[in-house]
Amino acid sequence: MLRTQVAIIGAGPSGLLLSQLLHLHGIDSILVERHSREYVAARIRAGVLEQGTVDLLLEANLGERMLKERLVHDGFSLAFSGRTERVDLKGLTQKAVSVYGQTEVTKDLIEARVAAGAKICFTASEVAIEGIDDHHPTVRFTQEGRTQEITCDFVAGCDGYHGICRQSVPKDAIRTFERLYPFGWLGILADVPPVAHELIYSNHARGFALCSMRSSTRSRYYVQCGLDEKLEAWTDSRFWDELRSRLPDEIADAVVTGPSIEKSIAPLRSFVVEPLKFGQLFLVGDAAHIVPPTGAKGLNLAAADVRVLYRAIVEYYRTGSTESLNLYSEKSLRRTWKAVRFSWWFTSISHKFSDDPFANRLQLAELDYLSGSTAALTSLAENYVGLPFE
Ligand code: FAD
Ligand code: DHB
Repeated sequence: MLRTQVAIIGAGPSGLLLSQLLHLHGIDSILVERHSREYVAARIRAGVLEQGTVDLLLEANLGERMLKERLVHDGFSLAFSGRTERVDLKGLTQKAVSVYGQTEVTKDLIEARVAAGAKICFTASEVAIEGIDDHHPTVRFTQEGRTQEITCDFVAGCDGYHGICRQSVPKDAIRTFERLYPFGWLGILADVPPVAHELIYSNHARGFALCSMRSSTRSRYYVQCGLDEKLEAWTDSRFWDELRSRLPDEIADAVVTGPSIEKSIAPLRSFVVEPLKFGQLFLVGDAAHIVPPTGAKGLNLAAADVRVLYRAIVEYYRTGSTESLNLYSEKSLRRTWKAVRFSWWFTSISHKFSDDPFANRLQLAELDYLSGSTAALTSLAENYVGLPFE
């Protein structure tokens, strides 16, 4: 029987960051992860970090490589109707965002946790939680054929959308809000220089496209695709042709193509559960909410949850007060719903939902209005760089 203060289910960015911050405040945790270390470290997902997320990573003593290797972006572009309009994030909000891959964040976190001697149980199966309404819940799992048991004070459910923590809660104690979108994103990673120094979000009659990057030599591109598309049907050359067809001519001509090193399809959804606290169990990050990736908010929201929860746990062990723990749900959900709204809105003006010409003209009018209005651009920019913390 193992004993810890906080059992953390899931060693994605949420779980690792929570564990690291708790450690720096003298609080012990054990991480239980379904996949191997190599699998977790290789997963390619987010790319854009808000300044608040960068600050939290610095607070977690993780900044060194990130500060050296990140690309600071003061703006991005919207492409529509054959033209390109820049959104001057820095000019509108005095803030910027950082391009630094989730893969790198995860690598830094795993290294820091391992170096500090953290207990991370990789390749754990049959993970189950018991007694979340008791003072000392139990986490049970199987590793290398052996059943293990952890008793703890708190369980942090950092196990993503498909995890077991949310599913361990009685159905009548939890409310779910969900919207599915009739499309997905097909993404590729390639070792070619990005087409531009900043990101380009493109609304096109053939569907949405996004030009992003991981470094000055590694590009990340996405195109909107049908939900029933087969990855095998997308050869590299088909992908590059489709991407270029959705960009204004001068940008399309500048795209440097090359072999993909990763290719995947992700469905888009908005999903939130309420509340986020059930007795001693707290849901964090993608286990609690999913947003469509358009606004680059998922990882940033996960970090914001960690920020609220780790401070509440530190307060509890310092003072014995459960006040902040009891406010976790309300605080995190207020921020979450604003990001859900922004991600839904940005998706709705940039993607092709149907062949309805009226809907398309409304989107183009909104983009045209946006690009000519400092008020509207400021609203977009302040959400994109991340709303201030309370
Ligand atoms: P996850 O990363 O899902 O981690 C959960 C962990 O729990 C995993 O390691 C999993 O293996 C483990 N696990 C699952 N089930 C169990 C179990 N039963 N037992 C033990 N462990 C378990 N966000 C941004 O902020 N900016 C972006 O630019 C951005 N772009 C994105 C692009 C794409 C294509 C996608 C798909 C997502 C993007 N996101 C972005 C979202 C971001 O990747 C997620 O929000 C982020 O990974 C959430 O972190 P998490 O730790 O909460 O969950
Ligand atoms: C990336 C993903 C996003 O969802 C986004 O809005 C910007 C960048 C990326 O993976 O690079």
